[in-house]
Amino acid sequence: MRNPLRNAILALAFLAAPAVHAAGGGLPGEWQKWQPGNEINNIASLQRGAGHFMGYCAGCHSLKYVRYSRLAADLKIPEAQLESTLLPPGAKKGDYVITALAAADGEAWFGKTPPDLSLITRAKGSDHVYRFLKTFYVDDKTVNGTNNLALPGTAMPHVLSALQGAQALKTVKKDGHEHFEGFEQLEPGQLTAAQYDEFVRDTVNFLEYAGEPAKAKRMSLGVWVILFLLMFTAFAYLLKKEYWRDVK
Ligand code: HEC
Repeated sequence: MRNPLRNAILALAFLAAPAVHAAGGGLPGEWQKWQPGNEINNIASLQRGAGHFMGYCAGCHSLKYVRYSRLAADLKIPEAQLESTLLPPGAKKGDYVITALAAADGEAWFGKTPPDLSLITRAKGSDHVYRFLKTFYVDDKTVNGTNNLALPGTAMPHVLSALQGAQALKTVKKDGHEHFEGFEQLEPGQLTAAQYDEFVRDTVNFLEYAGEPAKAKRMSLGVWVILFLLMFTAFAYLLKKEYWRDVK
């Protein structure tokens, strides 16, 4: 087989890989199509996401490849604000974002050590993390009273329940199988559904940034590269016309 063909097939296989990931567990239904619509260039969203992460996730999860100083520089967070709002007590600017929760305690308390989240969006995809944070529901059959559509039987408690409120699963039977119909709000949270969505979106956006801190820069550089190529193409075309005028 000639190389270009093999490369094309390999490329296609890689493109198809995320689709396989996306078809995770849980009930079939529309929730499997939910997407955060991340904007990795939206600094305000990333800043909010960083705040959410430090406030609601860093108690259990680390970002072991991310330093506070790099985060502040990339997200344009002034030093004073970094120290007053993001840095946990005792942490220094140059430190990595490491949770105070010891792995053994995590294991003992939750039955599983909370994973490092630096690469979670790359390992499981932003869509998965978004769906995970939106599909916790009340389930008396589990140890901690909640369950999750994107990660059935998860050991993570619904740590955002104060914001989202409590929701129950609604299902219908279709062709002999239970299908996801939606959620029924049992108790209101501090946020409206739209605000909660925004909260989760900013958090996932931030985690996507954490997975590849150079991405925002690369994407904005990419725009200039494409503009340059377009200009260059136009220029080359004009030049070609000019040359061919003489030939004809
Ligand atoms: C009280 C501790 C705790 C807090 C706080 C917490 N988590 Fe978790 N998290 C866990 C545990 C335990 C797991 C392992 C779950 C499992 O594998 O069943 C986990 C797993 C995850 C996973 C991996 C899911 C997967 O599909 O493998 C993601 C993503 C995640 N947490 C995101 C978050 C985010 C975002 C926050 C903050 C909004 C957060 N967590 C706050 C304990 C916590």
